Amino acid sequence: MKAEGIDIISLSAGEPDFETPEPVREAAIEALNAGFTKYTPTSGIADLKEAICRKLHIENSVTAKPENIIVSCGAKQSLYNAMMVLIEPGDEVILIAPYWMTYAEQVRLAGGIPVIVHTEAASGFIPTLDQFREKITSRTKAIVVNSPCNPTGAVFNRETMKMIAQVALRHDLWVISDEIYDRLVYGENATSIASLGSEIAERTVTIGGCSKTYAMTGWRIGFAAAPKPVAAAMGNLQDQVTSNPNSFAQKGAVTALRMASDQLEPMRAEFQARRDLIVELLRGIPKVQVAKPEGAFYALPDIRAYLNKKISDDICLVEHLLDNAQVATVPGTVFEAPGHIRISYAASRENIRKGIERIAKALQELDA
Ligand SMILES: Cc1ncc(COP(=O)(O)O)c(C=O)c1O
Repeated sequence: MKAEGIDIISLSAGEPDFETPEPVREAAIEALNAGFTKYTPTSGIADLKEAICRKLHIENSVTAKPENIIVSCGAKQSLYNAMMVLIEPGDEVILIAPYWMTYAEQVRLAGGIPVIVHTEAASGFIPTLDQFREKITSRTKAIVVNSPCNPTGAVFNRETMKMIAQVALRHDLWVISDEIYDRLVYGENATSIASLGSEIAERTVTIGGCSKTYAMTGWRIGFAAAPKPVAAAMGNLQDQVTSNPNSFAQKGAVTALRMASDQLEPMRAEFQARRDLIVELLRGIPKVQVAKPEGAFYALPDIRAYLNKKISDDICLVEHLLDNAQVATVPGTVFEAPGHIRISYAASRENIRKGIERIAKALQELDA
């Protein structure tokens, strides 16, 4: 529709609308010009692994050595490596819904079975101990945790993380903890589950990356920190699939990970201002319920009050909003959150204002 010249406002982006910081770009250009264009070790270059270990230590209180680190082509490949080496056919893997859809597909690719713990906006999208108890069977192998969460923006506090750690320890489960949005938080810092003690660290694969924090989605640099045998298996798998991630992107990532956090603060602060704006605008629409996101850059309003015979679910509503209000959003159904739509605030404040105004008008027309 954009190509046809239609004025579409996209509130669907899964990536920051910021430039990769200049020092990061410069580092990659320098590496290219210096001929750093050959294969690297499959699991990543030594200085990047060191920068990742340092970041995990300082920002996440997670202890890792270079032998625990596998650098991959984006956090998505890191997750895939983890799923493929940990999950055997028939294993059950607990996903906390709403969740990023890739988890379920990767569990299935590994031959596993996704088992869903459902959470609600009313409880801040936080799971409870009883919910885990209900879903755990003798075939449960792992829990996937994603805090801050795409699509809800929920950040699990320390108590929730401790509860999940206890469940994992008691039932001998792996935890795959996707912390790709760890620096994009607007209240309390996110807790890394692997920081809660050596026992839980020994059964956790922590996933991170450069895509979101440093606006580097196209560079394809993600990483996993895992117990040594798991890291070794992930490295062996990656060796036969892609080999190393891009050599000069790795050099850029070293600079990114060494950047002082005050250099990143303007982007985080802008996301926080947009979060405040979008929550205020959405709460101004009658009958729309929205939990306040504490991290990442998504809101997940409940739009069930506007569904009717013609527009009977969130998929129809998203299509209706695109066709009639020229706003792109994502249906909650793809995140196992029917009756909701995901709105990304990785967009300018002006576009957020215009986009939500259009959505409000379209919803009110539906209601008329
Ligand atoms: C929760 C979550 N994990 C992982 C990723 C993938 O990150 P990458 O682009 O580094 O593969 C995304 C991207 O949208 C995401 O939302």
